[in-house]
Amino acid sequence: MCGIVGFIGVRPAKDILLDGLAKLEYRGYDSAGIAVLEDGLEVEKSVGKLANLVEKLKDKELNATIGIGHTRWATHGKPSDANAHPHTSANKKFAVVHNGIIENYLQLKEDYLNDVCFQSETDTEVVAQLLGKFYDGNLEETVRRVLALLKGSYTLVILCSDYPDLLIACRKANPLVLGVGEGENFIASDVPALLAYTRNCIYPNDGELCFVKREGITIKDSEGKIIEPKIKQILWNAEAVEKNGYEHYMLKEIHEQPDAFRRMLKNRLKDGKVYFEEFTWNKEQAKKWRKIHIVACGTAYHSGLVGRTVFEKLAKIPVEVEIASEFRYREPMLDEDTLVIAISQSGETADTKAALEEGKSKGCKVLALTNVVDSAVAREADYVFYLQAGPEISVASTKAYTTMLLAQYLLAIYLADLRECISQDAYASLVHQLTLLPQYAEKIMLEENLKQLAKLAEEYHDTENLFFVGRGMDWAIALEGSLKLKEISYIHAEAYAAGELKHGTLALITDKTPVIALAVQGKTYDKTLSNIKEIKARDAKVLAVVKEGAEQIDKVVDKVLYLPAMDDMVMPILSVIPLQLIAYYTAKDRGCSIDQPRNLAKSVTVE
Ligand code: G6P
Repeated sequence: MCGIVGFIGVRPAKDILLDGLAKLEYRGYDSAGIAVLEDGLEVEKSVGKLANLVEKLKDKELNATIGIGHTRWATHGKPSDANAHPHTSANKKFAVVHNGIIENYLQLKEDYLNDVCFQSETDTEVVAQLLGKFYDGNLEETVRRVLALLKGSYTLVILCSDYPDLLIACRKANPLVLGVGEGENFIASDVPALLAYTRNCIYPNDGELCFVKREGITIKDSEGKIIEPKIKQILWNAEAVEKNGYEHYMLKEIHEQPDAFRRMLKNRLKDGKVYFEEFTWNKEQAKKWRKIHIVACGTAYHSGLVGRTVFEKLAKIPVEVEIASEFRYREPMLDEDTLVIAISQSGETADTKAALEEGKSKGCKVLALTNVVDSAVAREADYVFYLQAGPEISVASTKAYTTMLLAQYLLAIYLADLRECISQDAYASLVHQLTLLPQYAEKIMLEENLKQLAKLAEEYHDTENLFFVGRGMDWAIALEGSLKLKEISYIHAEAYAAGELKHGTLALITDKTPVIALAVQGKTYDKTLSNIKEIKARDAKVLAVVKEGAEQIDKVVDKVLYLPAMDDMVMPILSVIPLQLIAYYTAKDRGCSIDQPRNLAKSVTVE
C-alpha cells in the first residue's frame, strides 16, 4: 500500500525522494507526489505511475535539500492529482505525507475546520489543515496538539516552511524507519527505500516524536523526554532490492528459494537438531498447549493450511487455520493453553495484526512468523520467527510463502521433540529430507525444466476459467497455485478438493476448462487418479503434477509434470514451485504487469 520517504541533507532532495519512491513502487499505489522546501513549499503530484511524476518534474529545477514524498493507494477518495500526497495547509506552511487512516477525520473537519476550503477528499488533508490552523510558532507543541486529536493509525512526516532544517516523523500502528547517514538522514515506511544510502536504521516506537535534522536525529517520548535510539544494522544490501538481470522480481524471487531454504536451515539446525535460541519453551510448556490457531491472509493463510497437517502429524496438536479477517468476529474459543501463530510476510497486514491482538486479549501466547524485522506483528507477538527470505518485492509472494512452509516444518519438529511424540529415527529422517530441499528445488528450476513450464503455460494463453484439484496437502498447494495464477494472469482459477468436485463443481468442467491436478501425495494418489478420470470423462484437458515414478498417469491425462521425488511429507514445499512458474509464464505470455498486478498491494494495512 502507500509508501513514504523523507530526506534532509546537502544533496538535492528531489532525486533521492524519487529514487526512494521507486523502491517502494512494489507495495502497490495509484498516484505519487513530493514536496520540497525551496524559498517556500514546492509540491508536485501526479496520478498513475511514478513515471508521470518524474515527467512533470523533469524540467523543474529544484535545489532543495529537504523534502518528503509519497506513493498513495486510494482509500479516501479516488486516485487523482488532488488526492495524491503530500497535502498542504491552507496557509502553505505545512506539507504532510501519511500512511494509514485517520478514522475521525470527518468529525475533526466539523469541529475545527469548518471555515477551511479543502483541496482533496482525503483524511490526510485534515492533518495538514489542523497543523496550519493551530500553528503559533511552536512546531513541537502544534504537532503534539494535532496528534492528540487523531484517532486511527498513521505514519506521518511533516515539513514546515518555517523550519528548513527539520522533518518531524511519528507513527501509530504503522511502519516507520529512519535511516542514519553522515550529514544527511532519511525517513521511510519501508527499508528498501533506504538501502542505497545507509544500512543503519532506527525503528521508532508508537507515540514517539522523531526530529530528523541534517546533523542528527532526536527522539522524544510522548512526554517530551529525549530517549536514546537503538541503531540497527540492516543485513540486506542494496542489490537485494534490484532485479539482478531477471526480467521480473517475481522470477528472481522464485529462483532465490533454494538459497532462502539454505539460510533458514543453516540458522536453525545444529548437529542435526532443530533449535530456536529465541524461544524459552521447555517440555512442560510445549505439552501444555492443547490447540494451535493459525491466523493469516492470502498466501500466508495458504501456508497455514499446509502447516496444519504438519503440526498435527508431527507435534500431535489440533490446529485450526483461519483467515485473519474472519477470526475475531467468530468469537473463537481461546484460552491460555492455545498458541496463536500469526503468519505475515510483511508483518503489517492489519487483519492479521487484529487477529493477533484478539489472541492476546484472550490470554493466548502469540508466535509471529514474518519476514520483516521489527514489523508491527513482530513487535506485538510474544515470540518471533524471522523468515530471513530477503526482501520480497513482487506483489505475488513466492519465497516468503515457501519459507513460511519450511518455518512451520521446523517448528513442528521442534515442538514434536519437546512434546516427546516423535521417534529419533523419524526426527533424523525428516531433518535429512529438509536439508536436501535446496538442491531438489534447484532441479525444478533447471533450464530444460523452465522451458517445459513455459511451454505448458502457453496452453493457458486464452483460458478464461481454470481449475486446480488435489487432496490433503496437495489441495493446500492447489489453493496457492490458483491464487498465484489469479493474482498475476487475471485468469479465473479455482482450487477444489478433488473428492469434492463431483458434489457440484463438476457441472462446470468442459473441454474449455483446463484442469491442473496435483497427485503428489502417495496416500491419496489412487483416489485422486479416480477424480482425474471423472474430469477426463467431461473432456477437460488435464495437466497432472506428480512425483517421478508415478504410475498409469500418462495414460489418463494430456500432460504430466514429474517432480523430483522426496518424502511425501516435505513434497508440498517442492510442488508449489512449478505452479509459481506456470503462473509466471502464463502472465508473461498474456502481457500482464507481473510484479505489480492491478488492484493489489504488497501489504494491506487497512482492515
Ligand atoms: C496482500 C498480498 C498477498 C498477501 C497478503 C497477506 O493481499 O497481495 O500477496 O499474501 O496480503 O500478506 P502478509 O504480508 O500478511 O503475508
